[in-house]
Amino acid sequence: MPVLGLGVWQMTAGSETEQAVEWALEAGYRHIDTASMYRNEQSVGAALRRSGLPREHVFVTTKLMPTHLSAARELDKSLGRLSLDYVDLYLIHWPLPLRSARLWRELESLHQRGLAREIGISNFGLDRLGKLMRGASRMPAVDQVQFSPFQYRRRLLDYCLEQGIVFEAYSPLERGKGLQDPTITAVAERLGRTPAQVMLRWAIQHQAVVIPKSSRKERIFSNAQLFDFELADNDMRILDALDRTNGSAQARG
Ligand SMILES: NC(=O)c1ccc[n+]([C@@H]2O[C@H](COP(=O)([O-])OP(=O)(O)OC[C@H]3O[C@@H](n4cnc5c(N)ncnc54)[C@H](OP(=O)(O)O)[C@@H]3O)[C@@H](O)[C@H]2O)c1
Repeated sequence: MPVLGLGVWQMTAGSETEQAVEWALEAGYRHIDTASMYRNEQSVGAALRRSGLPREHVFVTTKLMPTHLSAARELDKSLGRLSLDYVDLYLIHWPLPLRSARLWRELESLHQRGLAREIGISNFGLDRLGKLMRGASRMPAVDQVQFSPFQYRRRLLDYCLEQGIVFEAYSPLERGKGLQDPTITAVAERLGRTPAQVMLRWAIQHQAVVIPKSSRKERIFSNAQLFDFELADNDMRILDALDRTNGSAQARG
């Protein structure tokens, strides 16, 4: 699973999404994160087709709204909109306590049928993740949760890493609001980097996969410049201290 992906939440279907995905592929992203709830799977699919890249070169995630009764029917619709034969990762978008176990069994069968190469969950905190795992035949490959220096869920992170579950960070830029924080901007200025690069690098150094969203070409490109620098231990500690969750295990939806 590529450690950097483009998130497409809140992108309008049509030219905004198609253009952003095209720029991302041009910038070297090989991972796109969408969801049936975002209503832009069709545009993601159109951009992927136009890119001419072989299917197996791009990692595509979509998500199931757990309010739907049949995961099989919903994945079939998502695949139709994406014009794909399979997704690389299919996630339960958020936990619904009375449904998660049954939906998980359905996802396990979609995995067995090859329609989802991997299956996982999103917005599951420690308790719900533990409960799901106790009844599962197949472990979730991924837990996608909000994660940034301001939402540093270290207990959940540590648990996922121990269990071999990929920890995927959504809203890694705090939806753009973390970028003006004086601690972030000071580190960025000192290193000659953008605040977004610093926040994304922090998450990657905590072994998270990151899926920043941008619809702007220059930001899509600069957000991908993450692999030619490193945050020193001291800068990691400075950013760790911005946490507002006190290490809370619960991931919000
Ligand atoms: N599973 C879930 O429940 C869940 C929930 C939320 C998000 N997600 C996923 O995670 C992805 C990312 O999270 P997110 O969209 O909430 O927020 P985000 O990636 O933390 O931040 C996106 C915001 O930051 C701005 N931005 C991006 N790069 C920037 C830069 N270099 N400089 C200044 N501003 C910049 C974007 O504006 P512009 O577009 O104008 O550049 C946008 O307003 C989503 O797209 C979605 O795929 C999943």
